[in-house]
Amino acid sequence: MDAFVIEGGRRLEGRLRVNGAKNAALPLMAAALLTDQPLTLRDIPPLADIRNMVALLGELGCSHEAPEDGVLRLQARDESRSHARYDIVRTMRAGICVLGPLLARRGEARVSLPGGCAIGDRPIDLHLRGLVALGATVFLKGGDIIAKAPRRRLKGGRVFLGGAFGSTVLGTANVMSAAALADGQTIIESAACEPEIVDLATMLNAMGANIRGAGSPRIIVEGVRDLRGIDHTVIPDRIEAGTLMCAAAITNGSLLLENCPLDALMAVSDRLEAAGVQMKALDRHGNPSSDPIPADVDPMRVTVRVASERVLRPVEITTQPHPGFPTDLQAQLMALLTLAEGNSVITEKIFPERFLHVAELSRMGARLFRQGPTVIISGVRRLVGAPVMASDLRASASLVLAGLAAEGTTIVNRVYHLDRGYHKMEDRLASVGASVKRVDDKELAPQLVAAE
Ligand code: UD1
Repeated sequence: MDAFVIEGGRRLEGRLRVNGAKNAALPLMAAALLTDQPLTLRDIPPLADIRNMVALLGELGCSHEAPEDGVLRLQARDESRSHARYDIVRTMRAGICVLGPLLARRGEARVSLPGGCAIGDRPIDLHLRGLVALGATVFLKGGDIIAKAPRRRLKGGRVFLGGAFGSTVLGTANVMSAAALADGQTIIESAACEPEIVDLATMLNAMGANIRGAGSPRIIVEGVRDLRGIDHTVIPDRIEAGTLMCAAAITNGSLLLENCPLDALMAVSDRLEAAGVQMKALDRHGNPSSDPIPADVDPMRVTVRVASERVLRPVEITTQPHPGFPTDLQAQLMALLTLAEGNSVITEKIFPERFLHVAELSRMGARLFRQGPTVIISGVRRLVGAPVMASDLRASASLVLAGLAAEGTTIVNRVYHLDRGYHKMEDRLASVGASVKRVDDKELAPQLVAAE
């Protein structure tokens, strides 16, 4: 298994372009099932989850080509297949987002239940509730969800998608995609407001759908008979952007981030600035702007300088559904705040068990006290390198960040988790001055390798 060897304490400086968003790309790819015409997607990041989704769509009768870097062409050619099997869905929970498109276009779907994962329970009751409200019958058999539309066509309806932890992002994507091809009007109440949902609605509308209100908690869909093919560029990855911002801040560095979706990162900029990180967006002439987001640039593709010259101040963070602070950046901000001057508080309201990084950060000298969904971070002057184990995607990113700032050598084991969401993170960080090397853990001394 691959591991990262990080020599900490180097200041990052340079320029990086934010890649296309994995979490936007996955439901966009699933939308290829909604039409028999070709879908061309641009700025698709070359990540394991994307490859798994291509494989899943292949099983479901879609052909694919990748004519050039970042471009993916998908086309549903055999619409008789509707079984998403466990061996593919288990590798990638987002496989669930084929459920709505399959059911809407093919009248039936059989999708293996994804099961739990390292960050806690991942139920799909809200997805199913939404599809039932569109007239589907749903039952479970042999670990699969079997969903059928009466006379092979869904019917618009009213759907409430709020749960104990807010709305559901992929659930909203599923129901909205399904409603696009249903008979009549669908109202999705308590819809997820995430930018990935807006991107999906934008693409579906360009394919001929009639969707209003995406980005707000009430989405209204007027169903249409057919959707056509499209050429669409995926939005930049707000979580990658936020992670790189933390990398600049934790090394007291200065990074110029291009293609940065600042408009989708207001809660994150707010907390970083409160901690003392400086953010300066550039206008279209490349001059620093006095506005947080200059009026003359695309607010989702800003060039921004992120720098930190001094010890950070402690802050309080509560994760929330968008536009609140994203759970997918909680671990990275925790790594950063371990070095703030004073006590910070992080409360996790989306996945209350998502704290696998706490014990590992503590091994590097962080002072963290967890009580249920809250962690108090008592800032320390320095972190010290140690062998640590990545356990989920964003927890891995937080350990890499901590390693960049720590004194000495940090070994992050099992970076396959990281690879699911960040393309060649080691090369990108090295290009701005970090010392990060990917090694096969067989090359490491046994005491540095994580035990099974
Ligand atoms: C997506 C993101 C993930 C992010 C999460 C929350 C993708 C591929 N993944 O995951 O990176 O961390 O949003 O922003 O886009 N819930 C229910 N019932 C359901 C569905 C969800 O109770 O049917 C709960 C979940 O347990 C969780 C909360 O709702 O507490 C939010 O989950 P959800 O938005 O569905 O996450 P995903 O869409 O799976």
